[in-house]
Amino acid sequence: MCGIFAFLNYNVARERRYILEVLFNGLRRLEYRGYDSSGIAIDADLRSPVAIDKREGNDGGEEASRLPYNSAPPLVFRQEGKIESLVRSVYSEVDAMDLNLEKSFSVHAGIAHTRWATHGVPSPRNSHPQSSGACNEFLVVHNGIITNYEVLKETLIRHGFTFESETDTEVIPKLAKFVFDKARDEEGEQTVTFSQVVTEVMRQLEGAYALIFKSAHYPNELIACKRGSTLILGVKELSDDKNSGKLFHDVKALTKDEKPKELFFSSDLCAIVEHTKNYLAIEDNEVVHIKDGCVSILKFDYGREKPASVQRALSVLEMEVEQIKKGNYDHFMQKEIHEQPHSLTTTMRGRLKDNSVVLGGLKDHLKTIRHSRRIIFIGCGTSYNAALAARPFLEELSGIPVTMELASDLLDRQGPIYREDTAVFVSQSGETADTLLALEYALGNGALCVGVTNTVGSTLARRTHCGVHINAGCEIGVASTKAYTSQIVVMAMMALAIGADKISTQARREAIINGLSDLPKKVAEVLKLDGEMRDLAKSLIDTQSLLVFGRGYNYATALEGALKVKEVALMHSEGMLAGEMKHGPLALVDETLPIIVIATHDACFSKQQSVIQQLHARKGRLIVMCSEGDATSVCPMGSCRVIEVPQVADCLQPVINIIPMQLLAYHLTVLRGYDVDQPRNLAKSVTTE
Ligand code: F6R
Repeated sequence: MCGIFAFLNYNVARERRYILEVLFNGLRRLEYRGYDSSGIAIDADLRSPVAIDKREGNDGGEEASRLPYNSAPPLVFRQEGKIESLVRSVYSEVDAMDLNLEKSFSVHAGIAHTRWATHGVPSPRNSHPQSSGACNEFLVVHNGIITNYEVLKETLIRHGFTFESETDTEVIPKLAKFVFDKARDEEGEQTVTFSQVVTEVMRQLEGAYALIFKSAHYPNELIACKRGSTLILGVKELSDDKNSGKLFHDVKALTKDEKPKELFFSSDLCAIVEHTKNYLAIEDNEVVHIKDGCVSILKFDYGREKPASVQRALSVLEMEVEQIKKGNYDHFMQKEIHEQPHSLTTTMRGRLKDNSVVLGGLKDHLKTIRHSRRIIFIGCGTSYNAALAARPFLEELSGIPVTMELASDLLDRQGPIYREDTAVFVSQSGETADTLLALEYALGNGALCVGVTNTVGSTLARRTHCGVHINAGCEIGVASTKAYTSQIVVMAMMALAIGADKISTQARREAIINGLSDLPKKVAEVLKLDGEMRDLAKSLIDTQSLLVFGRGYNYATALEGALKVKEVALMHSEGMLAGEMKHGPLALVDETLPIIVIATHDACFSKQQSVIQQLHARKGRLIVMCSEGDATSVCPMGSCRVIEVPQVADCLQPVINIIPMQLLAYHLTVLRGYDVDQPRNLAKSVTTE
């Protein structure tokens, strides 16, 4: 749940202030991934009394004398709190040190990190970059978790290392120094390369990680490697044909050219898109080394002594800079809610053809899916809810039993999964630890694994046998909104593709495909309820609790609506299956507790009408969501508040119905004065169990 970023300029003069701003901006883009502390490392001036970290009264002593003569210990700045508090503290420290911000570097390597604490409280000493020791000989920023750090720490302590932080990360730079010192003591200066040090470190590490290394022994070089967590390399060539728009660009071309360029590493594309569209999704066990403006990639293999060199093609990013900016909106969540007519259009683009659905990533596996004994949806949070919304339609069209699994619960129970199963993994980020662990479990049990994700190149996308990208665009608000509706639409399209061989359901399928084409327009209509939902939020601002009842297709809407309210508005809220009302929840009903009942027109409508009557009879404080024109039939005496929404095909109605709930959660949050985009205690992707 952290963000890592690095910036290396080569053969192009960049002032220190510019470098700092690129690093800060990278962190701002990644802040949604974690925001309790952050840090950066940049170069000091060549070795001088200033460079030898006088901030801590530390002259580096013997350690400093081991650095190359033209090298100085890099400067590390770390701070607790959001990125802006790091920015303030860096500028004030730089000022106190009299460091020249206008100094120009023709080549420079800087690294940065935004943290979401897992090991150790948020504090400067637990923030990254973590260091090998006094002279910052090796510095590391890390996303993920090192599972064997305790053993490594004990060994390093036995070799005389002292630890300052409570993090799992600190073992990595210290291990790098240990490997480096050992090689140098045994074989003398210049014998060990930076990539040899890093591959040896990788050999010792267990867990999931993406790492970027900077070292005073290898000035102006950077190394990035990963296992599990996502890591991207961005390449911006500054010569004549910049961002040439060529479809593919070989990394090989970057192995021997001295052209001016800027190179970036980032834990996701959001921090890269404003600089370049040429990128490479680094694969597991690859070690990407930038030196003298060249990029070389080694593939690390446990069995082999020496990693092999590999060639990779750069891809062209299909994302616009606007996606990562708020534009005229106050918050990303607000922007992403209002973007849904567009994101849904993108999700469906090129996939609905002549009354049929074409899903390129699935077509070779449809036969296997149709023959599976069971389809299992697996996900967490909002992604689970999206799958729940799609479940009835998939059951109806495929005729195959569809079961639901929360990834963590499946793992806790080690629930049975068989070769004859199709397991569909749903994850916006494609990085959620529980979902990925469940994926490994299902792969181990021989199931066909299908991925539904928003993140091209994510672990989920790479580890599944096949899948569909939801193409909702970058989602930055921590509360998932547009990804949810795009996930439902993708799973509805999957159901249509899986059921496409059945004559008996042809008319139904065609009606749904027409409904899909119309959906963005209907979503634009329901967004007009914005003002009404703001008024409703005003009336609920001081309530302690909110219940949401749904059933059938809209059981998911109840769960997801309640999840939105609790996660951003920090108000207790529960989504409940209306069919369960009489089995307990009815006891809660009184004149004060607000209850939202989803009663749009579908096969469950009359049952929801009777739920409304029963709640009414107990003087419940009711808010009813119904289809346009149904207000009087759901609320005959005008005694409850009504939200009227456009009616669409039953299986697509959850896409419409969630939108007033998203708007309600958004306005409640703003009115209650909470942070919309970065809610308390939450981060966008949950990369630890
Ligand atoms: C809520 C939310 C979370 C995520 C969950 C899974 O708004 O965003 O509930 O849905 O953490 O994340 P992904 O979809 O990235 O696997």
